[in-house]
Amino acid sequence: MKYKQKLALILFEVLGHEIDVKELEMLIEKPKNQQHGDLAFPCFTLAKVKRKSPNVIAQELSEKIQSPIFERIEVVGAYLNIFLNKKLVSEDTVAEIGSQKEKYGALNIGNNRPVTIDLSSPNIAKPFSMGHLRSTVIGNSLAFIVEKCGYKPIRINHIGDWGTQFGKLITAYKLWGDAEKVKQNPIKELLTLYVKFHEEAESDPSLVEQGRSWFKSLEDGDVEALSLWQWFRDESLQEFSRIYELMNVEFDSFAGEAFYNDKMDRVVKLLEEKQLLVESDQAQVVELSDEELPPCLIKKSDGATLYATRDLAAALYRKENYDFDLSLYVVGNEQSLHFKQLIAVLDKMGYSWAKKMVHIPFGMMLKDGKKMSTRKGKVVLLEEVLNESIAMAKNSIEEKNPNLTDKDTVAKQVGVGAVMFHDLKNFRMNDIEFSLEDMLRFEGETGPYVQYTYARACSILRKANKATETSIQPSSISWEKEWKVVILLTEFPNAIKRSFEQFDPSQIAKYIVDLAQAFNKYYAEVKILEENADQHARLALVASVTIVLKEGMRLLGIEAPEEM
Ligand code: ARG
Repeated sequence: MKYKQKLALILFEVLGHEIDVKELEMLIEKPKNQQHGDLAFPCFTLAKVKRKSPNVIAQELSEKIQSPIFERIEVVGAYLNIFLNKKLVSEDTVAEIGSQKEKYGALNIGNNRPVTIDLSSPNIAKPFSMGHLRSTVIGNSLAFIVEKCGYKPIRINHIGDWGTQFGKLITAYKLWGDAEKVKQNPIKELLTLYVKFHEEAESDPSLVEQGRSWFKSLEDGDVEALSLWQWFRDESLQEFSRIYELMNVEFDSFAGEAFYNDKMDRVVKLLEEKQLLVESDQAQVVELSDEELPPCLIKKSDGATLYATRDLAAALYRKENYDFDLSLYVVGNEQSLHFKQLIAVLDKMGYSWAKKMVHIPFGMMLKDGKKMSTRKGKVVLLEEVLNESIAMAKNSIEEKNPNLTDKDTVAKQVGVGAVMFHDLKNFRMNDIEFSLEDMLRFEGETGPYVQYTYARACSILRKANKATETSIQPSSISWEKEWKVVILLTEFPNAIKRSFEQFDPSQIAKYIVDLAQAFNKYYAEVKILEENADQHARLALVASVTIVLKEGMRLLGIEAPEEM
């Protein structure tokens, strides 16, 4: 990225400031084939400004632009193909990474302004679904990415802990529940009760009435209802926290839907004052026909508030409490309409910050091409999936490296990392096919492959016994064989920028796979551990690779074992 900017500046000067630097920078391409240079500049746009043929311009420019950072420049038709000075760029890059260490690639776009990230947000008394897994993994990575870009991330787990379903659950528990069973296996037991409620309600409609009345008691603050609700919530959160611990995910807030109970009257009042509430089918709604959206339901006929009402209160609370510069919602694709309505209502209320709210949708997790669901007690328990992945990682360690110390820690890092990487390596809108075997492969684009490459690089440094020495001493090395790796290292800041602009961690996942592949190829070609005049420079390059791979994995929320 840096060299693209440098080239743009040089062109800017040579062209007598005729064309904006940013525009020039945008015109610069990165040739797919390195034989066509490291950077290419097409002269078609200039041809229009200069009223000369692009080929002539290319020829003229090639004679005028000069800098020690260019090794040579070739003119091919209307293109300038620019070959960078390998020695200069390589030594500069390795020195930069060596001095900045894990700060390499940091961008100061954010000026420490807050970004709230709504992520994970499972529903209590229900299993943690694959959708919640995706939200957790993508949101967690985005938090690291915005932080790397200079913002202050605030991770909010908007727990689904309120709604009519809790009236039904209390009814079911009072009728058929067993405290011991709930304590032993809370989510499974509560789900069983919930399913039973629906089955029984088919023949006994009075149950529905009881459910409604328990929810009313809950909303009115009835002590028994509240304490049961609190208990279900605590037990569920405790179960979720085991999953978060496995994945190393932390939150700044667990303010869920119930947190906004006492903050909704205000929302309704504000909507009334702004004359946005209208009656429709006995319910209170905000009309959004101007926006070509269906009306947003605010209050039901019995006065009960809804998911959307709570999200309105939450948005106001987040603005007032955190003064966010950006407010992200990492929630599945199927809620796109909800977020469009939410943002449209806030916009109608006159809040200019509504434009700073972004829904970050994602596709489904599929098993054999079908949606993986948690319906009807037939549950794919995420915790079991993670534990199975850890067990498989452990087996593979026993096979490949039986003498490894602390196998269990490494197995956890690899097993969990594999699941997370699998989720992050594709653009988030794509549906992904769930397959533990694929996730855990040591070859191909997998988490273990990147981790393994990192561990291999660490082992080279250990063997050379020069730790993470990155200072460059004058050497004879031409940096020819190293060049592919070096160029990729210079690209890291770029990958981070793209992942931020598109809220897309896969940019980083793909980048670290590329870097790992280039490094492995280099490792196969060059005897790095051979003691010679080039060794010092080569080890410095290996150290740079370890720094960038580790930092890339960290941005995805994945750990990097030094041995595996
Ligand atoms: N609990 C919701 C669900 O499982 C997701 C909540 C997303 N966040 C929000 N602010 N609406 O569908």
